[in-house]
Amino acid sequence: MNTLDSLYKQCQECKACELYKERTNIVFGVGNQNADILFIGEAPGENEDLQGMPFVGRSGKLLDELLNEVGFSRDENIYIANILKCRPPKNRDPKPNEQEACLHFLMEQIDIINPKIVVCVGRIAAQKLISKDFKVTSQHGTFVEKNGILFTATYHPAAILRNIHQKPYAQEDMKKFKEKLLELSK
Ligand code: URA
Repeated sequence: MNTLDSLYKQCQECKACELYKERTNIVFGVGNQNADILFIGEAPGENEDLQGMPFVGRSGKLLDELLNEVGFSRDENIYIANILKCRPPKNRDPKPNEQEACLHFLMEQIDIINPKIVVCVGRIAAQKLISKDFKVTSQHGTFVEKNGILFTATYHPAAILRNIHQKPYAQEDMKKFKEKLLELSK
């Protein structure tokens, strides 16, 4: 099996879709390689492409705030990655062929990290990893088991920045994720 380091190197060489042409950096993932909980966003934006790290822009700051409130931190106990490793131009939604071309990297990351819980951050990740008609507004915070891993979803921080009334729901979700993890670790 690959290590995250060898997978990272393969990802840097990847030309499986057109997005490699305009990337500054791949955005592979950050955090604890032994994390029990993995957060999956959609795709890198401009800041992420420039820095090579997920969720470092305005929505990343809000995500960190929500995580930190329940004691999750990318420096300690979680891992964060995206469905796509390269930035789509002008931050448009990832195309189905781009998601298909990139997904094997994420699947290998999940295999290597072997988390107890995978949290889809926003609709794109939830529809790719949980079910294709997933509705964040009605299904956030619910758990579905797949191959021994619990999958769940919450609001994307960029959506919360557009509609701040969603923030308390995301805060409740984070509490739920923390509680579920404690329950699973007993
Ligand atoms: N939005 C995402 O979904 N992922 C990032 O890394 C940044 C913004």
